[in-house]
Amino acid sequence: MRIYDIIRKKRDKEELTKEEIEFFVERYSKGEIPDYQAASLLMAIYLNKMNKQETAYLTEAMMYSGEIIDLSAINGVKVDKHSTGGVGDKTTIALAPLVAACGVPIAKMSGRGLGHTGGTLDKLESIPGFSIEMTAEKFIESVNNIKIAVCGQTASIAVADKKMYALRDVTATVDNISLIAASIMCKKLASGADAIVLDVKTGDGAFMKTLDQSFELAKEMVEIGTAMDRETIGIISDMDEPLGCAVGNALEVIEAIEALKGNGPIDFMNLCETLGAYMLVSSKIATDYEDGVRRINEVLTSGAALEKFKEFVVNQGGDPRVVDDYSLFKKANHIVEIKSDKTGFIDKIEAESIGVSAMVLGAGRETKEDELDLSAGIILKKKVGDFVKEGDTLAIMHFNREEKFEDAKRRLKNAYIITEEKAEPKKLIYGVVTKDGITKF
Ligand code: URA
Repeated sequence: MRIYDIIRKKRDKEELTKEEIEFFVERYSKGEIPDYQAASLLMAIYLNKMNKQETAYLTEAMMYSGEIIDLSAINGVKVDKHSTGGVGDKTTIALAPLVAACGVPIAKMSGRGLGHTGGTLDKLESIPGFSIEMTAEKFIESVNNIKIAVCGQTASIAVADKKMYALRDVTATVDNISLIAASIMCKKLASGADAIVLDVKTGDGAFMKTLDQSFELAKEMVEIGTAMDRETIGIISDMDEPLGCAVGNALEVIEAIEALKGNGPIDFMNLCETLGAYMLVSSKIATDYEDGVRRINEVLTSGAALEKFKEFVVNQGGDPRVVDDYSLFKKANHIVEIKSDKTGFIDKIEAESIGVSAMVLGAGRETKEDELDLSAGIILKKKVGDFVKEGDTLAIMHFNREEKFEDAKRRLKNAYIITEEKAEPKKLIYGVVTKDGITKF
């Protein structure tokens, strides 16, 4: 078999066999296929697409390119949640304790942020003392004892994906449904959970900009998960404006804590409730979605979820006093209100531009090597549908890097689209995809 022939076949729109896909993934992971040939094949896949069978073969080959985590020592049905990425997406930080407080074991491997989207690990590290490093034994023991642990994804999982993703990132081949589905699902499947709830973002700040593409991606991933015997559910949620109000690491953790106290922004609270209910259903703890919603609200109002969050923080070396004293988080030296130049209704807040603005302030990384400023970020004071008068505060910027302020401010102001007419309220959840089909809301 030759990689040249595989590239030619895909260039000519032919279907690749299981053996050809395995050959590519295995040889490329080992460094036996050079980047220029891998890039050619990825571009051919991007342009000529893969069918469902090819995508399933690709996912499986990528999954077996690294370590397969065995979570069988953890009691109960392990449910994982994955978001396809967004701006202000601090969901795991509130959702994991909510669901764990209902009795679902949460053994979560998370990632760091890159570009305009943040990462759970960076956010958690803004809690003084919090560590995401732990041995496999401590990870399993923690989940068995307190039902929750979050650690960094080991470098040995889905080795092929790391190389392929880095190459896709620089060859304009990221936003292809088969490649994204295989990339996400190979890691989820290798991470050992029994069930997977996927939060597939749609809109300006997401990989998938249209609803049709988002449903297609969710369907593809649900089919892959189901074929691999994991109960998989995809929720399509809005990312046309940032989720909640906080964007930036410590600021987002504070917002997640507020949510666990019942005071989070409405869109964020609703998303946690929906995803949480589906996680309870997939773990078989809830009988149906309504029962899941009821249980999530029970642990929220009783304070059990907040207690679970404290337990989780203590177990990973963090200072639980942050829950009652936000001054324990690092604070930025400059906190500046950004005023509106116009009067009208907020029609849109371009999520990607807000993400980039926060990144410029130091909340995100432009390249993997960049150092973060965990205190930097943005608090949105106006969301889509709100009325604003000229001179009202649109947002508050937190930063230390003074030289970046003007650039970040310009981006933030441009992200706010203000019109005379109030726009139709947007949905937060557009639908659910299960093995039984698609339900659109
Ligand atoms: N997230 C991933 O892990 N992979 C992709 O290809 C896109 C988003």
